[in-house]
Amino acid sequence: MALRKIITPENPVLRKKAHKVTRFDDPKLQELIDDMIETMHAAPGVGLAAPQVEVSQRVIVVQLPDDEESVQEYGKDAGVLYALINPELVRVSDEMVDGIEACLSIPGYYGNVNRHEAVTVQGFDRHGKKVRVKAKGWLARVFQHEIDHLDGILYIDRATEIWRVGEEDEADAPVEQAAPETSTGQGGST
Ligand code: NI
Repeated sequence: MALRKIITPENPVLRKKAHKVTRFDDPKLQELIDDMIETMHAAPGVGLAAPQVEVSQRVIVVQLPDDEESVQEYGKDAGVLYALINPELVRVSDEMVDGIEACLSIPGYYGNVNRHEAVTVQGFDRHGKKVRVKAKGWLARVFQHEIDHLDGILYIDRATEIWRVGEEDEADAPVEQAAPETSTGQGGST
């Protein structure tokens, strides 16, 4: 496993529509997934999409934290690692919620984004088995953020407000790569 470099918007790969994965038996795919997990943990972040490590393929990894507070707030969603290939939103709630997002590809900023409160994601696991994940709240938000990356969409395209880290007045100002807690979920970079 190896850490990969996370690219920023100057790199056009971040804005390209990523290709569907067609071969699951490719060792390079397995290596990519392992590296993405390691890179997400090291950042640290709660999600990462392959275009962020300059690979234009439809692969995402997502994992909410599993500390005590997260377990209380997110229950069974806390700490579960998802590695999804060719993920798609097959169902979305009508209900929309505001929430804070940040992105590992856009360090130093965070913003407010209106997202579906709940989604159903369908895709394949790393062995090519079809999987379906029902997500709500913060997990649903992270999936929407990561799937957007596969279409070259960044949260700043959807944000209703964007702030620079350190610009706000709150005492608990977020450090780089993290955002303040909100009613809809704890911020985290993806
Ligand atoms: Ni992101």
